[in-house]
Amino acid sequence: MNAVTIDGPAASGKSSVGYEAARRLDFLFFDTGILYRAVTWAVLQQGISVADSEAVGQVAEQTSIDITAPTRDHRDGRQVTVAIGDNDITWAVRTPHVDQNVSIVAANRLVRQALGEQQRSIGLRHGSGAGGKSGIVMVGRDIGTIVLPEAPLKIYLDAPVDERARRRQQELAARGKETDIARVLADMQQRDEVDSERAIAPLRPADDAHQIQTLGLSIPQVVDKIIALAQTHLEVGPATPLDQTAPRGGGAAPH
Ligand code: CDP
Repeated sequence: MNAVTIDGPAASGKSSVGYEAARRLDFLFFDTGILYRAVTWAVLQQGISVADSEAVGQVAEQTSIDITAPTRDHRDGRQVTVAIGDNDITWAVRTPHVDQNVSIVAANRLVRQALGEQQRSIGLRHGSGAGGKSGIVMVGRDIGTIVLPEAPLKIYLDAPVDERARRRQQELAARGKETDIARVLADMQQRDEVDSERAIAPLRPADDAHQIQTLGLSIPQVVDKIIALAQTHLEVGPATPLDQTAPRGGGAAPH
């Protein structure tokens, strides 16, 4: 199986690093956080309380989330286009309002059941090479522990919380959203706490995960470490060189 799992707390660099690693390995990139964010967006949009477990679970079961490659019209830094029906929610799922509510939604048993099964079948299909690409890079919180524990290469990215808050603030600023660093930090600490302490699929490194501390490392440096591990853990040929022109979604450091 050719599968790389990348887990870690908020803004530890999973998406930027995972996207670039997948590009170099020519694997499918799948950011599972998007699904939890999209369900949260739908819940908020329908005026449902995130505390109403049954209603939130129903939204997860009934909402069809489309994730597609961006077209030429979308040169705004997006990795993928996220849509529900006719609504392009690519950026709507990245607002502070969704950030503040997503962890409660993601702790919901019905939500995890509905989304977890879909993720596992996508991981198995693309990890076996049956999906057009020769492998998959899957990013999230519980991918190495619960969703795809048989993956031959598991990564856990981390960085101190104030560094991660700085990265998230930069990322928001790059999209024209000025935010208060203290607020970003507080929201992030709250989200990490809920993600780590929830009963089902809490955030933690798998026993056999390679832990990478990303403080002081650039995105290409972290990607290089993962590519080196991929050469020994997966059935891959030489990876394509780093594309210096590829968008990395913000600053020099992972976010
Ligand atoms: O980009 P960032 O790390 O801030 O967040 P994300 O990866 O988009 O995930 C958003 C939220 O979804 C997390 O805070 C978790 O509550 C939830 N999530 C999860 O529970 N399990 C996953 N596999 C991925 C995300």
